[in-house]
Amino acid sequence: MRRGPAALSAIVLASGLALTACGSSGGSGDAPEVKVQGAFIPEPASGDMAAGFFLVHNSGAADTLSSVSSDIAGQVTLHSTEDGVMKEQKSFAVPADGELDFERGGNHLMFENLKRKPREGDKVSVKLHFAKSGTVSVSFPVKAATYNPTSHASHASH
Ligand code: CU
Repeated sequence: MRRGPAALSAIVLASGLALTACGSSGGSGDAPEVKVQGAFIPEPASGDMAAGFFLVHNSGAADTLSSVSSDIAGQVTLHSTEDGVMKEQKSFAVPADGELDFERGGNHLMFENLKRKPREGDKVSVKLHFAKSGTVSVSFPVKAATYNPTSHASHASH
């Protein structure tokens, strides 16, 4: 008795909208789910600058690594390496259900204007700023200058 035709069509309209919203969100989930693994900083030869390596594992929607900061460095820049030449990049894409690799010979962080020289055994706190996931704080252990983990060894577990 209280539900006239107008109320009924309002319900139909509302559920139609809900379907539209759902359909536009894509197949791999609404939000990225980023995890940072295998982070390290090789002890630098000088106190001027240091490099950083890590792996971003994403089990959700695509994201972007837009900047990085650390309390030991005045500035942290993002670099790619192509044909042995490194290039500064403004950001890096994190693919949906995929990985973004920062490893020796490829992408790397550069910690510049160091406030102190990182030494083997130290931990350096680093903040990775993602466009969608926000800021992820990671403790980067400082390893020996020559440390180089077997590429993708950490992937074996998943
Ligand atoms: Cu570089």
